[in-house]
Amino acid sequence: MTAPYEALAQVYDRWNARADYQRWARFLDECFTGSGSTTRVLDVCCGTGRMIGPLQRLGYQVAGVDGSAAMLAEAKANVAPGTRLRHARLPGAPPEDPVADAAISCFDSVNYFVGDEDLLGLFRFVAASLRAGGLYVFDTNSPYKLREFYGNNNFGDDFGEFAYVWRNRLADQRIRFLITIFTAADSGYDRHEEVHEQRLYDVEEITAAANTAGFAVVGLKDNYSTTEAHEKTLRQTWILRREST
Ligand SMILES: C[S@@+](CC[C@H](N)C(=O)[O-])C[C@H]1O[C@@H](n2cnc3c(N)ncnc32)[C@H](O)[C@@H]1O
Repeated sequence: MTAPYEALAQVYDRWNARADYQRWARFLDECFTGSGSTTRVLDVCCGTGRMIGPLQRLGYQVAGVDGSAAMLAEAKANVAPGTRLRHARLPGAPPEDPVADAAISCFDSVNYFVGDEDLLGLFRFVAASLRAGGLYVFDTNSPYKLREFYGNNNFGDDFGEFAYVWRNRLADQRIRFLITIFTAADSGYDRHEEVHEQRLYDVEEITAAANTAGFAVVGLKDNYSTTEAHEKTLRQTWILRREST
């Protein structure tokens, strides 16, 4: 058994090749344009940096932080030379200077904060990393998606140079993903196993934690669009604004 993202990092970008980071970047750009001067962006749980590159190409100065050294190692190929990429497990790590004008956490990252105080801790970390008035835009897998779509279901695919089997177990407010990955080796395939855990968060819980950490919720959209999130939204996109203290 390897740690979450240890083996997955090797195949993450190919597995998610169709994720629409360009469209997400345009959505983020529109949010930031409407919220005062935004230059410095912190990508919290930046993974392999797939969101950093498109934002850099739009002119933002982006730094990343992530808890997986394996994901950060892959990120070097996706970001501009010299990009600051910090290895830190949140919410325990202290915020760093300089403060950012905006922060993001894309592609299901926030659901990984499963402990009872983790979400509030994450929001406090981001609030301390942001200037007053700065936006924190992130997405969550909705409870509807985690219950009805991922649920207790199995998924798999064969990409040739790698394949995966992904088995889910849902219990109460948590879902566990047992992910088995096969990567091509000199003779046959190497087998890797990872267990991931995500938490189902309802709108009220996220709103309460955000408010406690000093954020106002200024938008809750359907998958990086102008449509309001609704009961069958799969990916909720949150727009928080850090209030003055
Ligand atoms: C699904 S990936 C998303 C990566 C990236 N944001 C993207 O858009 O592709 C989730 C990321 O969250 C990171 N992560 C999960 N829990 C974390 C924690 N407690 N502290 C720091 N990073 C964490 C993982 O290492 C992983 O890179």
